[in-house]
Amino acid sequence: MPSALPVGDPVPDDGALPPSALEGLGRRPFGFYVHVPFCTVRCGYCDFNTYTADELGPAGGARGASRATYAEAAIAEVRRARAVLGDVDLPVSTIFFGGGTPTLLSPGDLGSIVASIAAEFGLAPDVEVTTESNPDSVALWDLEELRGAGFNRLSFGMQSAVDHVLKVLDRTHDPLRVPAVVDWARQAGFDQISLDLIYGTPGESLADWETSVEAALACGPDHVSAYSLIVEDGTALARQIRRGEVAMPDDDDLADKYLLVDERLGSAGLEWYEVSNWAKDASSRCRHNMLYWTGGDWWGVGPGAHSHVGGVRWWNVKHPAAYAERIAAGVSPAHSREVLDDESRRVERVLLELRLRDGLPVSVLDATGRAAVARLIDDGLLTRQPVERLVPTQRGRLLADALVRDLLP
Ligand SMILES: C[S@@+](CC[C@H](N)C(=O)[O-])C[C@H]1O[C@@H](n2cnc3c(N)ncnc32)[C@H](O)[C@@H]1O
Ligand code: SF4
Repeated sequence: MPSALPVGDPVPDDGALPPSALEGLGRRPFGFYVHVPFCTVRCGYCDFNTYTADELGPAGGARGASRATYAEAAIAEVRRARAVLGDVDLPVSTIFFGGGTPTLLSPGDLGSIVASIAAEFGLAPDVEVTTESNPDSVALWDLEELRGAGFNRLSFGMQSAVDHVLKVLDRTHDPLRVPAVVDWARQAGFDQISLDLIYGTPGESLADWETSVEAALACGPDHVSAYSLIVEDGTALARQIRRGEVAMPDDDDLADKYLLVDERLGSAGLEWYEVSNWAKDASSRCRHNMLYWTGGDWWGVGPGAHSHVGGVRWWNVKHPAAYAERIAAGVSPAHSREVLDDESRRVERVLLELRLRDGLPVSVLDATGRAAVARLIDDGLLTRQPVERLVPTQRGRLLADALVRDLLP
């Protein structure tokens, strides 16, 4: 089962936000995250809030909790968002459908959610509309319909191009399916395509990883995300490791794999802009993720979705049936929330912005952090850029967690 929700403060039934959160609304970028909590099968490493038909059981039959009726519940939450945020001018700059597997909903349903966001808030002229997609859950005609419904960016869960690695990850797609879906996406008119890769799967050699990176590059992506495999408690993978059936790679192996992907992508013209993300140029960066990483406002729709508006963070009830019940009853689906104080917001900025190529303004550090900067520059972990911003070097990116520990008390 997916991991538990954090503890927080209660949220009023109407979901009203404290007045401080609404100050400055519309002066920061505003986006929507739409969570689609369904998958055909659960990958052994994944603890996202997603459910197969078996896991949903009879609860999956509740209106708004099933794939067939989910769009209705999501649209009802978009309307709630408008009521909570008031009628301030708030054009949406990014929309991101994640999951789960959003493309298990029909393109018509996904398009109806985009249309409801457009109707309630209006879309910025250069709005970015992304959906994640599993290579084996889309066909050419779906992609054409999605493009027609206003989607302009696709993120495919490629993970690896090597059969035995995909098998350990429980991925069901044939590696050859990835270049095929990328071709279809181009034919359908998508000019922003991202591929997700995972490195450090048990049994993956450096040569396997090289094969995957080269296969990703051969697809000509505009953007690549490469994350090291995280072993989440409670997953099938964690149990296999505990029983000694598979072994996790060591830190040196992970470091070699990070250096390999960074160098190969860099030579092919994809530059890093966040520790685990590379893009062809600034216009191919994922603006939705940039909004998360730079303190923007976003509303997360759907079970377990997290939101952040003006320093207030909240998260929805987790199960699709509980979510659908709240929506049907006309009450906020929020489970709880926290109001971030100035120090928590500062710490969060250090954690997130030190991972960015755009860097962290030195002024965000406190005295202890500033005192550590010169040493970290001497150690080759940081560089100081014009306008007083600190940017991690390649070695600093490899040691990002240690870097942060030195800059925060
Ligand atoms: C919700 S999934 C993407 C959409 C689609 N369900 C898929 O898997 O292709 C988002 C990304 O998170 C990655 N992910 C999930 N669990 C992970 C883990 N434990 N470690 C590293 N990446 C993980 C997935 O592999 C995927 O690329
Ligand atoms: S398909 Fe994606 S969201 Fe679904 S279980 Fe696999 S990694 Fe998780």
